[in-house]
Amino acid sequence: MDPRDELLVELKNATGWKSGEQLSRQMSMTRSAVWKHIVKLREDGYNIESSPKKGYRLADGDVIIPSEFRRGLRSDLFIPSETRFLRQASSTNAEARRLAEDGAPEGALVIAESQDSGKGRRGRHWFSPPGLGLYFSFVLRPGMAPAEAARITLLMSVSAAEVIADKTGLPVRIKWPNDILINGKKAAGILAEISTELDSINYMIIGLGINVNVPRGSAACGFPPELRKTATSLLIEAGRAFPRAPLLQCILLDFERRYNAARQDGFSSALRRWRELAEIIGKKIKIETAGGTIAGTVVELDTDGALVLRNTAGALRRFLSGDIVQEMR
Ligand code: BTN
Repeated sequence: MDPRDELLVELKNATGWKSGEQLSRQMSMTRSAVWKHIVKLREDGYNIESSPKKGYRLADGDVIIPSEFRRGLRSDLFIPSETRFLRQASSTNAEARRLAEDGAPEGALVIAESQDSGKGRRGRHWFSPPGLGLYFSFVLRPGMAPAEAARITLLMSVSAAEVIADKTGLPVRIKWPNDILINGKKAAGILAEISTELDSINYMIIGLGINVNVPRGSAACGFPPELRKTATSLLIEAGRAFPRAPLLQCILLDFERRYNAARQDGFSSALRRWRELAEIIGKKIKIETAGGTIAGTVVELDTDGALVLRNTAGALRRFLSGDIVQEMR
């Protein structure tokens, strides 16, 4: 293991302070080598406190330690050599796209501790405070037609919803197209981007943001005022914090399983599960699209991921993108 990661593991697992003496003994290195690694880790953004009498303490609550994470992720799709960790990214989607353009293989993964320009759908910003959420994106090269892209994104929303529900015991729902809601508020979102070549997908970037341990808004931290009515986190809903690394590993493995199954047997079982989690068929909704707002009743989620709506004039309309702005019971 990388000595800096090893040092982080020691500090993370310590119940309180760790003296330089203890660390140098446990890691078989001199105290000055320990100090040099601490300096470097601080430069990388880790919040390590030091006290002349007590030693060192990791002030970040829930750190994801790269080598520990890689070792724990037993995947054929997301392989260690293609997994990158960033303390800070502008946007992991932008990073992953850059990697894809440079020829990165399917499964190349970018995980950031924070993003300063996290992107949401339709040009929105994604709130990405350090250490409190999961922000990651990966490259897919599915070799499918561009029309399949929406269905692949549905797989991701089913995986995220299922794993979050399993880990938290909370009532998780999907809001078309790919918002993950808990008790009616948004806890996670997916941003998929594709590059196409003639009639096939060249690469696809799937980015997921999850509000894991974001506290309720206050002046100092938590959601900014404009998000407080619509956004939530697992911490707020469950009343307890969740370690991020195992949550992320489970979501990646669940996605891999569904992706492989869909390639082999088609998307029908994932679509079925999506419909159950979305509970939208038969509901009256208003949908906001680039072309305006349309009201109607949801007739079906089509096999290509399109939402089929019967508008007030009785005509059927299909939507592959948009926002449900109002749901009427
Ligand atoms: C949405 O619901 O509007 C989509 C939000 C997607 C946010 C994630 S965070 C990781 C990845 N990088 C980004 O810039 N966006 C996605």
